[in-house]
Order: sequence, then structure tokens, then C-alpha cells
Amino acid sequence: MSEAMPKVLVTREVFDETLEYLRAHCDVDANQEDVALTPDALVRRIADKDGLICSLTDRIDAPLIDAAPRLKVVANIAVGYNNLDVAACTARGIMATNTPGVLDDSTADLAWTLMLGAARRVTEVERYIRQGDWKGWRLQQWLGTDVHHATLGVVGMGRIGQAIARRAKGFDMRVVYHNRKRVAESIERDLNATFMSLEALLREADFVVLQVPYSPETHHLIGQAELATMKRTAVLINSTRGGVVDDAALIEALKRGTIRAAGLDVFENEPALNPGFLELDNVVLTPHVGSSTEDTRRAMAMTAAKNAVAALAGGTPPNLINPEAKNK
Ligand code: DGY
Repeated sequence: MSEAMPKVLVTREVFDETLEYLRAHCDVDANQEDVALTPDALVRRIADKDGLICSLTDRIDAPLIDAAPRLKVVANIAVGYNNLDVAACTARGIMATNTPGVLDDSTADLAWTLMLGAARRVTEVERYIRQGDWKGWRLQQWLGTDVHHATLGVVGMGRIGQAIARRAKGFDMRVVYHNRKRVAESIERDLNATFMSLEALLREADFVVLQVPYSPETHHLIGQAELATMKRTAVLINSTRGGVVDDAALIEALKRGTIRAAGLDVFENEPALNPGFLELDNVVLTPHVGSSTEDTRRAMAMTAAKNAVAALAGGTPPNLINPEAKNK
């Protein structure tokens, strides 16, 4: 191993080809046991590193960054980067990167899995069959709600939101959306999507799908008041980040029938989700697997590795979040 190679810490298990690629360019300190590093271990192992490849479960904050005087790049294996203190990175001239694009379709597929699963009560009926309770067919058994021809409300019309909306064409749905900024007219036309306020969307949509990034501005974007604004027959899907929904308020709404059902891939304080969810039948739960297909997770890991290597070679990584860091 050449002395000149930059030193990189990879905090969690990655694929063999990711490591192979990294080892061709860097001196790699890997954690293939995949047990999350304790904060102390992270501080110790990052101390002499030039680059960090981390996952969304690692909190990369100012004290940690201060423990790594040589650090030039933090490459997150995720598109969401609320686990990174980007301002602290920028202040130190450290480039921060994410993995946009490669996971759009897989994440959109999972949002649809939750929509269809919640609408047709898939996990409920699966439990019923497994328990041996199915004694025969009945006309009014396990009645669900139609997805086709319903109104889909997408909150957050970025790349993933658009991929979710695009799939609605095959279901002959009406699409409405809310976004900080209205998207280009050509996109609206292509998706047949109508822009409206969040409040109007909550009133009109049969399926509300959240796809906004988590930030102080989107913390509890959907709480008691917003749930009360939704139709009693509506279904809420959160496959973006825990904290965008007030989980305690959602549990109460699902209990009281304020809305019909929910499909959730992300939770406040995950993996320690609110136990109230486990008592409810009208919620479909998945453990933050939105991007978890073989091809997509491999692509995410490789994207992060390439971002790190590009930064360490003195270039501009393809997915740089904080271009200002380069001028520091
Ligand atoms: C992301 O990339 O932000 C996803 O949540 C990972 O599944």
C-alpha cells in the first residue's frame, strides 16, 4: 500500500466491489462486521482519515468533524443527508456528498408497495392466513379501498416524488402535488399533475404520499391538525424520513379513524418505533427499506465511493451538496 494513498474510513459494511474500488484508490479502514461504531470508536478511527464514507445511521456532527483534522470529504450512502451537519462541514472546507438519482425508482416502487398494501390490507390478510383463520370466501370479507381512479397527493415533487406520480398514470389516477416551488410546466404536463397548497391537497387526496427531505422546516409537517384535514377515507404514506410525521398524532388518528390507514417505511427515533403502531391493524410497516433492492443499494454504495475518490483526487465530486466548501 502506497504511503501517498489517502486514508478513508467506511463506517458500515459495503459490497465487495465497493471495497475493491476504494482499495484501488485509497488506504481503507473498513467495518465489514457491520456493527455500528460507538461514538468513541468513530472519533478514534476518523482521527487520521482524509475521507469518510458513512451511512444515514451515522451522526456526523461538528465535534466529530473536529476530531478529524485531515478530513476532506464526507460521502453519505443515502440521498437524504439530515444526519450530516453540512454547515459544519462547509465551515471546515469539507465536501459533503449524497447519492441522488440511483434510488429514485426503487424508492418510488416502495411508496407504491405501501399504498397498495395499505389500500388492500395486504399485511392484515397475510397475518390472517398465517394464523390459520381463513375458513372460506365471503362477499364482504376484508374490503379494501380502490387505488385506481383515486386522487394521489404527492407532497414534495423532487425526483422521487415525480417517479411516484409517473406510476399513477397506469392506475388512471388524478395527481395533485405540493412543493416548496412549483415544478416546470413541462413536468406538470407530463405527469398530469396539478399544483395546490398543502391544505387543499390534504382535503382532496385519497392517498397522501410524503417525499420531502427532513429538516427543521419539515419537522412534524403532518401532525394532528393536518391529519384532521385529511379525508376520513384517506391513506397516508411516509417513505421519506421519520420526523416529517408526528408519529404519536398519527397513532391517535389511526385509532380514532380520523384517516383510514397508513403505510410507513420510516419512523421517529427509528429503529425504536413508537409501540403504538404495533397495536394497530390499519398500518403497514416496513423497516426503512425504500431503496433496498440489490441493484440500487450496490449503486448507492458505489456512488458514494466515487464521490469520495473524486474529492480526494482534488476534483469536484459528482454529487457535491456544499459547493461553497471548495472555496474554503
Ligand atoms: C436515502 O437514501 O435517504 C434513503 O432513505 C435510504 O434508503
